[in-house]
Parts: sequence; structure tokens; C-alpha cells
Amino acid sequence: MNAEALGNVQVTWPDGECINVPTLWLRDVCPCEECRIAQTQEKRFHLATLDSVSIETLTVSDDQLCVTWAGGHESQYRRAFLSGDHARATPRWEPWSDDYSPAYVDFKSFQANDSCAETAIEEFLRSGVLILESAPTEEATLELLAKRLGPIREVLFERIHNVKVDPNGYNVAHTNLGLPPHNDFASYSWPPSVQALHMLANEASGGRSTIFDGWGLLEEFRSDEPEAFDVLCRVGVPFREFDKSNETYACEPIIRLNARGELVIFRYSNQLMQVMNPSDPDIAAFYDAYYKLSRRLFDTDKVRRFRLEGGQILIVASHRILHGREAIDDAGCRHLQDAYFEHDNVRNMLTVLARSHD
Ligand SMILES: [Fe+2]
Ligand SMILES: [Zn+2]
Repeated sequence: MNAEALGNVQVTWPDGECINVPTLWLRDVCPCEECRIAQTQEKRFHLATLDSVSIETLTVSDDQLCVTWAGGHESQYRRAFLSGDHARATPRWEPWSDDYSPAYVDFKSFQANDSCAETAIEEFLRSGVLILESAPTEEATLELLAKRLGPIREVLFERIHNVKVDPNGYNVAHTNLGLPPHNDFASYSWPPSVQALHMLANEASGGRSTIFDGWGLLEEFRSDEPEAFDVLCRVGVPFREFDKSNETYACEPIIRLNARGELVIFRYSNQLMQVMNPSDPDIAAFYDAYYKLSRRLFDTDKVRRFRLEGGQILIVASHRILHGREAIDDAGCRHLQDAYFEHDNVRNMLTVLARSHD
């Protein structure tokens, strides 16, 4: 590769605006028919096929840049193409305000009306929560949500999980005990990122649902306790969920960040967390940090509590929002079904909905 390949190209548009772009980038993004697959809009040209890259001539006119490359290939770029961010922006998450309460949307409107679905999904991406009401109370109604949330993300156990008080149940949810804030399937290295909880019937007393803005808490924790936050990003924690015919296990940190330091997964499940090795050199620092964080989770001001009635579906962005349940006093006819979806699919669904009116 010659030295010029590592250089930049400066383009000055007739109105004086100037852009400076890497030469390799400019060659890589050539939009011509030879370099793209017209049918799919995918890239066909591959940089690795070049022995070197250098520019022979460069012409700027009103809104167009023309480049002739050494070797003779010609590229034409529209100005908007060179400066554009081609991804469609979808709403970013926002921490809950003090007076936050979840939005309720009619199930039938959400399913049938695109503009209602669009507004509801935008709200879901911001707050991490949506409650659908007046849904059918038949089993497997959650299958219908694939129209809006994308395909069901299956995990071991059941495709659609049933939660009833059951003396043979494999999980604390099948008892009448209260459930502290958690997310499901911490025992997967990529746990389901959206969870829908559909109440088919609720004639029990007690058992109010609880939700908690986990990422909101983590951002506060990061600024108040940066060292403890860092320990929770670093130390792997074992989680396991199993029964006679299923076994799921993952050893992952409580907090996962992306390369930009943004939150990706808050993994929190007291019930699935396994015994950690006490001779691990990080164990004392981990437990100190984990205790501090867990105490904050029991700050009752931040929990939202409500009774989920028959025909209501609570949907949560489950890498962010923790859910739980108060103890059930009397288990009379309470039946909940759970299914999982993926956050990427929900976000992309919004883009598809928006396309239809753009
Ligand atoms: Fe759960
Ligand atoms: Zn080309």
C-alpha cells in the first residue's frame, strides 16, 4: 500500500464548506453500479482487492464530487451522500423522571393501527416500559405480538412460559413468595432483551407487579461510586437456571458496557446467582460493590407498583428494566404467561413503520 493510501482528501464545495475524509474511506464507499450490488444496495467492492490507492483527478461541482482513481476507476459522489449519516435515528433511552408512570395502550389499537404502534414503540424505547390493556385472555396471545415486536426469542423451558403457583415449579416465580427486582435468564450470556408478561387471570390478592429503572440507577451509581461500578463491570458472576430436562448457565458481569462505555446489559437476579469462589482475589471488592448497589435497589421511592389485571400485558426492555412481584396472599386463579423478544427487532420495527409514511 503506498503512502497516499493512508492520507486524507480535502474537498471544498463551491459555497466554501470543506470536508476532510480518508482516501481509503472515499474509495470504499464508491456508490457506482460496479462497486455496489444494485439489487440489494449492498457493497460489492472490497478494499482488499487494491494493491494501492491514489487519486489521479478530483473535480468538485455544485453538489457532486468526481474522482478518477489511478487505474482508471471513476467515482461520483453526491454531497448529501458524503456527509449523511445513513442510519435512521430512533429514540434513545431516558432515565425515569420522579413522576414517571408507565403508559397504557389499547392492545387492539397497538396491533391494528400503525401510527398508534409507532407512538407506543417510541415511548417504549425511551422509558423501557409499555402496558397493553384489553388484550384477549386466551393462552398464547403473546404470539400475536410478533407483528409489532418481531419473532419470539425462545429459550430453554417453554416457548411461552406459564407462571402459576405450582408446587413442582422450577423457579421462585412458581411459589407465592415475593420476587425482588430481577431480570429473567441471567443464565444466558445474551439474556432476552425484551420480556412481555401477559396476565390472563388475576383473582389473587396481593402480588402487585413492580418495575424498576435499572439503567437509571446504574448511571447514578456510576457517578457516585465509580470504583464499585467498575468492579461490577469486570467481575464474572455465575448464574444458573435449570430443571430436570434443562440446564442454562453463564458467568458474566453484573454490568456490561459497549466500546463507548454505554450500558448494554444490567444482569441482576438474586435467585439465579450461584456461589462465587471465595478465594477469588476480586471477591471482597465485588461483594462490597454488589452490596452497595443492591441496597439502592431496595430504595422504595424508585419502584413503580401496580396490579396487573387480567387482559393486561406488561412489556419491559429487560436488559434495562428490572421487574418483580409482591408476595401473593391468596393464589386463587392467577395465571401469567411470559414470552421474550429482542430489542433490536423492536427498534427496527419502528424504522419499518416510519418508512411507510416517509
Ligand atoms: Fe421474572
Ligand atoms: Zn465504483
